Formats: sequence, structure tokens, C-alpha cells
Amino acid sequence: MSTVFVNIGLSLDGYLAPDGMTMANPGYRNWGAKWGKLMGWLLNQQSFREAHHFGPGGETGAVNDLVRHTSERIGANIMGKRMFDQGEQAWPEEAPFHTPVYVLTNEKREPWVRPGGTTFHFIHDGPEHALALARKSAGGRDVRIAGGADVIQQYLNLGLVDELEIALAPVLFGGGRRLFDHLSEPLPQFRIDRVLDSPGATHLRYVRQ
Ligand SMILES: NC(=O)c1ccc[n+]([C@@H]2O[C@H](COP(=O)([O-])OP(=O)(O)OC[C@H]3O[C@@H](n4cnc5c(N)ncnc54)[C@H](OP(=O)(O)O)[C@@H]3O)[C@@H](O)[C@H]2O)c1
Repeated sequence: MSTVFVNIGLSLDGYLAPDGMTMANPGYRNWGAKWGKLMGWLLNQQSFREAHHFGPGGETGAVNDLVRHTSERIGANIMGKRMFDQGEQAWPEEAPFHTPVYVLTNEKREPWVRPGGTTFHFIHDGPEHALALARKSAGGRDVRIAGGADVIQQYLNLGLVDELEIALAPVLFGGGRRLFDHLSEPLPQFRIDRVLDSPGATHLRYVRQ
């Protein structure tokens, strides 16, 4: 059975995205610089550079190994429509997933096939159905809940998240999309499985008890 895991970057004050982060509003409250501080550690990892055709070079070591391992374990992704909407504008033609991606949305839309193995499927009958489809297509590999906050909260409330992988970056956002919000009892319980520190982020993995 596939493991279902959340894998995200988080600001020190608990936000997944800074306030007003939209492509239409590039200067708003400096969100671009905040996002850069959140994700900067990732951009120069060798395995990330390879996967995104950024050319040779990049950092090797424990963080790079972690990034490679994470990308190799993913057989399918699930995301929300707001994350998708931003990515549709920002991702290159070869979208950076290389798996089926199930987008939770109220919009009805045909699958969107991208070069490099990514197909976006638009699912409007709920998170459990999206997960069933993702498990089926993952071919024994794991299912990543890629975000955003709304979607992660739904899977936490359904008790369907086996692992939380959080790269906690040393940046304060002061507002935005809070990750741990709208949670309801009974709350899922996690234990610490791994902590890896690096200058750009503290890499935390929690496993459900
Ligand atoms: N830091 C990170 O690692 C990270 C990772 C991922 C995303 N993000 C950021 O997070 C932000 C987006 O997060 P978010 O919480 O605002 O939104 P989100 O979770 O990406 O998307 C929420 C939207 O998805 C649709 N949706 C969600 N659940 C649904 C359901 N059960 N049935 C039907 N439709 C459903 C709805 O849109 P419709 O009604 O329009 O269909 C809803 O408004 C973005 O800024 C993104 O860049 C950050």
C-alpha cells in the first residue's frame, strides 16, 4: 500500500505561502523575496537541478540525497486548484512532476497532458476519490500531497496522512496561508522520525503514530 505523505516548505511562523502571492501581483508585500527564502535551499541541490534541466553542478550531500529520495518515491501527486493555478502560469512546459497529478477542484476540465510524464486530472468528487485514483496510478510508489494548505488540511482531518515532511526555513512571513488551520478533533498524532539541519532549512519528518 502506498504511503501518503505531505512534502512542503514552511516559514518559521507556520505559513505555506506569503500573503498576496499571485503572479498578477508581483510586488505585493515582497512576496517574491519571501518565497525565495523559503525555497532557496532547494534550487541549488544537484538532484533538483538535474530534474529541472538546470545544467550540471549543484550541491551534493545529505540534503541532496533527501531531495532525490523524495522525488524517487513519488508515484502520484495530489494538489489544490490554487496551487495548480499558480503553477499553470509558472511551471515550464515540462511540468516538474513526471507522474499523474490529481487536482482537487470544482471546475470540470479534461486531463491536461504535459511532456515528460505529467498529466493533470481534475477531480471534483472529493479528496477520498482523488486519493483512490492516486493510489491506483502510483504503481506501488507513494502518494504526495503537494499542497496547498486547504488540501493538506482536508487530508489531515480525514486521518489519511501517514507522514509529514516539512522543510522549515528561517524566514518570517507575518501572514499568508497558514498550514495548521481548520483542523478538527480527533487530531492525528505524529512522532518525530528524522531531523536534518542545514543552513537553508531544518528538514523534519513526522510519522503518524
Ligand atoms: N510552501 C510549499 O511547499 C507550498 C506547496 C504547495 C502550495 N503552496 C502554496 O499554497 C498556496 C495555495 O494553497 P491554498 O490553501 O490557498 O489552496 P489549494 O489547497 O492549493 O487549493 C484550494 C482550492 O482547491 C479546490 N479544492 C480544494 N479541495 C476541494 C474539494 N474537496 N473539492 C473541490 N475543490 C476543491 C478549490 O478551488 P476551486 O473551487 O476553484 O476549484 C479550493 O479553493 C499557493 O500560494 C501555493 O503556491 C506552497
